[in-house]
Amino acid sequence: MSKRNIILIGFMGTGKTVTGRILAERAGMELVDMDSIIEERAGRPISDIFATDGEATFRTMERDLARELSQREGLVISTGGGIVLNPENLNNFKKNGLLVCLTASPAVIFQRLENDTTRPLLSGDKKDQIEALLQSRKPLYDAITHQIDSDQLDPRERADAILKLYTLETSN
Ligand code: S3P
Repeated sequence: MSKRNIILIGFMGTGKTVTGRILAERAGMELVDMDSIIEERAGRPISDIFATDGEATFRTMERDLARELSQREGLVISTGGGIVLNPENLNNFKKNGLLVCLTASPAVIFQRLENDTTRPLLSGDKKDQIEALLQSRKPLYDAITHQIDSDQLDPRERADAILKLYTLETSN
């Protein structure tokens, strides 16, 4: 029997990577971090890809990787915050995966990313950029059925909640 993937979606700073690590360990599944794979394959950081080739090139790499990973099974996939921008990505992941969206308030996201220098989309006034981007993407994140509030739950609690969901969904 095929083992469905778990796909972690959410804005930057909602805890996808840290939650994914714990979840993969608990579920005995392999963790794949899309941004890390893109960086490895490109041989340079995402900020460089954005600066040199532009965001559209990055989105194509992201789309191609989503196509590739959705052909595999038994993975915990930590996506980049912009994965929701292309509906094709979510449609591909849905075929063999449980989509879970992590959420956080703008204030908590700001707190978590205040000193971060790796996100090209937050290179100006971070507070404003977080609020504007979050606002414009809100309908895309809200459309995902399963939502986990990372303001309220710590990474272990989030992983437990997702694992419960996954067990429930796959036993039906
Ligand atoms: C992005 C989020 C980043 C990374 C890139 C673009 C976005 O991933 O993919 O900087 O558009 O929200 P994280 O969500 O892991 O920070």
